[in-house]
Amino acid sequence: QQQRRLVSRQRFIQDFSQCLFEFVIQLLPTAEEMAVKEDVRKLLERLIRTIEPDSRLLSFGSSANGFSLKNSDMDLCCLIDSGERLNAADLVTMVGDLLERETKFHVKPLPHARIPIVKLNLDPSSALPFGIACDIGFENRLALENTRLLMCYASIDPARVRTMVLFLKVWSKRRKINSPYKGTLSSYGYVLLVIYFLVHVKNPPVLPNLQQMPPLRPISEEESHLNGYNIWFFDDIELLRQRWKSSNTDTVADLLIDFFKFYSRDFAYNTGVASIRAGLLKKEDKGWLSEPSDYGTARERNRLCIEDPFETDFNVARCVTKDGLYTIRGEFMRASRILQARPERAILALAQLCE
Ligand code: CTP
Ligand code: MG
Repeated sequence: QQQRRLVSRQRFIQDFSQCLFEFVIQLLPTAEEMAVKEDVRKLLERLIRTIEPDSRLLSFGSSANGFSLKNSDMDLCCLIDSGERLNAADLVTMVGDLLERETKFHVKPLPHARIPIVKLNLDPSSALPFGIACDIGFENRLALENTRLLMCYASIDPARVRTMVLFLKVWSKRRKINSPYKGTLSSYGYVLLVIYFLVHVKNPPVLPNLQQMPPLRPISEEESHLNGYNIWFFDDIELLRQRWKSSNTDTVADLLIDFFKFYSRDFAYNTGVASIRAGLLKKEDKGWLSEPSDYGTARERNRLCIEDPFETDFNVARCVTKDGLYTIRGEFMRASRILQARPERAILALAQLCE
């Protein structure tokens, strides 16, 4: 009987992996959608160049890191190469006015946000049944670099890494735990949790630690640093593909089941900080506990701690509230329970997960 159970569990894992691949494939953006978005980027770049001739408009976030789903929003970053330039708040106001005049987008400039951006929305049409949502920021070079880091991680083992990440993005959206504004976690936060798990929790690891690999040649301080942060990482993907062979042979289903188990009960939420750069750190050592003076707010900010890969003094999960974390952990437990319950058919388990 035990033998039979084992065989049926193995069959479930196999089927579930297959279901995950098929599920994720149909969620990818079509070539047409990507082409339209690239056209929009070019159009916006051309317009912005009428104000700042030396500017470039670059994609970051999901449209550039390999983790994009159908109809996901566009994150754009405007870099200005000339010396004297306006501050971000003034640029946001000017670019906002310009795009309001020259395009059909609904434009909302937010010059006083922590990171000043222009928000753009295009109404749905027959060519674009979901419209387009787009944010333009300025000089956010760290975001371009962390996008490149995620992209490198995605391309080391796309079958497992991309499938896990895309599934978790859909799952977290369907389960309504992907809204930093409402006290839960951003997609970027979930991606970092996956990479942390694959680099530092799985043994043997599925991914190498790109930020700790020895460089091929000496790197100067100037090359490796941006705004005082060390942004160096091993980014020669061709070489990595030749040299890095994980001895971890888990299927994507095994990994996902373990991921849910780990974050339901094993991760040290109260004391730990997940750092893809340095492994498990302590809240105490990073000063992310609580100052006696602002005990309330500091505590509320640091319920869940995920260190940004470059901006190491920034907690990517600082928007997650006490309730938010409770809900997120509840969802990890629910997912774990569904997958442990010896489901009849993999496809039904997957549907139930994303209900
Ligand atoms: N980002 C960041 N710091 C954060 C949140 C986001 O630097 N606290 C940057 C990252 O470069 C990230 C990008 O903003 O890749 C987009 O973040 P997010 O929208 O959370 O991720 P996406 O991959 O774009 O997911 P979605 O498809 O849900 O928009
Ligand atoms: Mg995005």
